[in-house]
Amino acid sequence: MSEENIQLIAKKIVESGKGILAADESTNTIKKRFDSINVDSNEETRSFYRDTLFSTPDISKYISGVILFEETFFQKNSSNESLKEKLENINCYPGIKIDQGLETINKDSIETYTKGIESLDDRLKPYSKNGAKFTKWRAVINIGKNMPSKACVEKNSSLLAEYALISQNNKLVPIVEPEVIMDGEHGIDECYDITVKTLTQVFSSLEEKNVDLKGMLLKPNMIVPGNQSSEKLDIKKIAKQTLKCLIKTVPKEVPGVVFLSGGLSSVDATTILNEINKLNSAPWNLSFSYGRALQEDALKAWAGKNENKNRVQDIFLHRAKMNSLACHGKWDASLENE
Ligand code: 13P
Repeated sequence: MSEENIQLIAKKIVESGKGILAADESTNTIKKRFDSINVDSNEETRSFYRDTLFSTPDISKYISGVILFEETFFQKNSSNESLKEKLENINCYPGIKIDQGLETINKDSIETYTKGIESLDDRLKPYSKNGAKFTKWRAVINIGKNMPSKACVEKNSSLLAEYALISQNNKLVPIVEPEVIMDGEHGIDECYDITVKTLTQVFSSLEEKNVDLKGMLLKPNMIVPGNQSSEKLDIKKIAKQTLKCLIKTVPKEVPGVVFLSGGLSSVDATTILNEINKLNSAPWNLSFSYGRALQEDALKAWAGKNENKNRVQDIFLHRAKMNSLACHGKWDASLENE
């Protein structure tokens, strides 16, 4: 891939109805996903599964970038081909999840901050030297009794801004991910208020650090009721509130917003993205950076049996295409049976 600057890369990632595959599950998380289909998680199974996704014919029509975990970035498949180079060969940008997970802020709370800032600059070097084009850092904000605290929102926002700046200094596009978690009994209005508060603080920190807003992407949650709330998912309301929240908080210089799926079902994640794009009043491209919502069906179809490879790829391609249509507001439920 040729030399490109971060503003151009950020723009290209979200152009033409394309989005990101988040395949950056840590070793612990991918083990949980594999446990759910009774498959042992080891280097070989992880490489086979991810290689299958990345080799899906035509996938780059819908997927412009893939977030990788450190193991995958330097991993080879059973034919000794580099997984990262496979992505480069189909003009899909390789990215790297660069945070080091969560740590509680104090021992009496479940609130967390994201680890890894001290070593970040050093850890980025091998990835930027070897072709990574973007990075991801996830911060977690919980909603609950006395949560989130002001200290938690401020600390995570400040770390996200510091991360974004260090990434840009290494010529890598930061994907800034402040995830307001769906777990809990809260309603949609509370999710709206907390997400507005969080994004306001995040952009205040980014601007304070002079992060180049044109050379980054935002990866937020959608505005949804908690997963233990009595409120049902009202797709039209979710779309309206999500867009309202973003318009209130995200500067127009940011080229794109790539949503996380956060535990929504595959079809719900597509339906909401479609509905938001149908409203058609956003100054940024609104796309996806889904992990579970892109992989769930494909993972089940694989079931650890390598002879299911073609079926896995068909299902993955279908999900990616549905989400790409949703980026244009052109998805329809009837297309799910294609
Ligand atoms: P989900 O879409 O499964 O929430 O994953 C996205 C992600 O990258 C979380 O950091």
